[in-house]
Amino acid sequence: MCGIVAYIGTKPALPILLEGLKRLEYRGYDSAGLAVINEKLHVAKTVGRVRVLEDMLEQRTRTEHFDGTLGIAHTRWATHGEPSDRNAHPHSDNKTNGHGIALIHNGIIENYAVLKTWLQDRGHTFNSDTDTEVLAHLVGELYDGDLETAVQSALREVTGAYAIAVICEQEPGVLVVARKGSPLMVGVGKDEYIVASDSSAIVAHTTQAFTLDDYTVAKLTRDSFRTTTVDNVPITPQIRELEFDLEQISLGAYEHYMLKEIMEQPQALRLCLKGRIDTRAGQVVLGGIAQFARDLVKARRIIFVGQGTAMHAALVGEYLMEDLAKIPTEVEFASEFRYRNPIIEEGTIIIAISQSGETADTLAALQEGKQRGALALGVVNVVGSSVARETDAGVYLRVGPEIGVASTKAFLGQVMVTALLATFIGRRRFLSADYVSNLLRELEAIPDHIDKVVKLSDQIREATAKYIERENWLFLGRGHNYPVALEGALKLKEISYIHAEGMPAAEMKHGPIALIDDGMPAVFVATKNSQYEKVISNIEEVRSRGGHIIAVATEGDKHIRKLCQADEDVFYVPDIPEPLQPMLTVVPLQLMAYHAAVLRGKDVDKPRNLAKSVTVE
Ligand code: G6P
Repeated sequence: MCGIVAYIGTKPALPILLEGLKRLEYRGYDSAGLAVINEKLHVAKTVGRVRVLEDMLEQRTRTEHFDGTLGIAHTRWATHGEPSDRNAHPHSDNKTNGHGIALIHNGIIENYAVLKTWLQDRGHTFNSDTDTEVLAHLVGELYDGDLETAVQSALREVTGAYAIAVICEQEPGVLVVARKGSPLMVGVGKDEYIVASDSSAIVAHTTQAFTLDDYTVAKLTRDSFRTTTVDNVPITPQIRELEFDLEQISLGAYEHYMLKEIMEQPQALRLCLKGRIDTRAGQVVLGGIAQFARDLVKARRIIFVGQGTAMHAALVGEYLMEDLAKIPTEVEFASEFRYRNPIIEEGTIIIAISQSGETADTLAALQEGKQRGALALGVVNVVGSSVARETDAGVYLRVGPEIGVASTKAFLGQVMVTALLATFIGRRRFLSADYVSNLLRELEAIPDHIDKVVKLSDQIREATAKYIERENWLFLGRGHNYPVALEGALKLKEISYIHAEGMPAAEMKHGPIALIDDGMPAVFVATKNSQYEKVISNIEEVRSRGGHIIAVATEGDKHIRKLCQADEDVFYVPDIPEPLQPMLTVVPLQLMAYHAAVLRGKDVDKPRNLAKSVTVE
């Protein structure tokens, strides 16, 4: 979603801000803007890409001085008001006698309408439809020579979520930032600070950083900082080392981040597994949850919550938990769970799954479950993110930063971590050390298996090309592979904009079968497992109605090859135990979605209308 970058230091701010915005492009946005103070406040903003902003600045810097060492920059993903130049951030306090304040904001100011009326009564006129402009005016209205105090006072009046960065022409050596419910991080360099909503905009400058807590305001000058609550109570943040470097967020030889992240999944899973399994002893080592081991063993019910791909990983997790830990488990969209009246009995554990750890619905569902007495766990990738901070304990994915908007390696990490979690609990309940040793050997071998599967990429591209004109696709699977069918359809939709439906293969008969016409591509996850024969029958049903089969099958399965016609495609994956199969079967579907998008000429890393992390409801 929206991205924030801000800089105060000794170097020219403009290139740092633009470079930071580019690093945040992957989050999804529709307009971009920035402000720099060089004696006066200079603002440039536009609907469209950062490139458009750059072009605009190239013109304007011929006559205007954007070369200050203090500035703020923003990519906007519209919530209040259409994407347009005037709704783009920064917003200013442009009452006739304004102070030259500029503000950027991620989140939503819920009581903006009341505040707007109050400000209008005091003579303010507004130039945009945004809630953010109201906040800029409020800071201006309360400004009395001290920006930090004005921001604190304004935030005390605000309800909603925010990460903000504010500068003021009258205080050219001060940057004020604050956060509640929307991520914000301060990178600490030598005589400089770089603030961003995401560490990928910071790592090029420094690896030392601190995350702001909710209701915290930071006042940064070139050589010092001070953090307080909005009530001006001083607090001391903890500076830590950022966990990844520039190389991990660089494209390298790949054309797109999505492809890079698919291809690097073996490596990502090796990192995820490192130090977590002891195959000899038949033990899973999960330091993050060790102190809650007894609660987990005694758990009576597990509820997974998440959105999008994370929700699909949770569905795989449901099978794993019930198979391995034998604990009744359910999965719910976080967005639904948070507004239901969920019954949480003693012994319930709520597990939030999220790559970013910032998805607003997932965070709220977790809080709801926790408030009702559940033990709150997180399966999260981004260290120190909101979900991670809200949980009682958790397990990080450790798959490295995910830049591709369409989540791929995080899905594998999420499934791997839930498999570890289920084994951790199962071993303490019913599973023997021998059983677990064997299972862990299988888990350990998965990265090598994926190495083989990603080599199918060229074959998958050729197969996808055959159907590239088709506007409707079906993805079908059963049992553990049913969530994989959902994920395959989601991936295709997200980046190629082809309509796709994913469902349990048996459900097809209850309506969707009416969609099947001559040549419709039907992708079956048809690996050897307890439901293989049933899936084969479903393949026959599609075939007899003219559908075209694309199958993901188990190596050595000649039967399925014979069943398919010569011009139909079978992608073979190694034979592994049924509960773990989703970690292999999803990979051809990720590649299929990627190739479909490229073949259709779509910008894979910047899909329309999507945000990498949805931090608003
Ligand atoms: C967005 C992304 C999806 C992602 C979902 C949940 O919709 O586009 O790819 O799966 O959010 O994100 P999370 O960060 O919570 O895993």
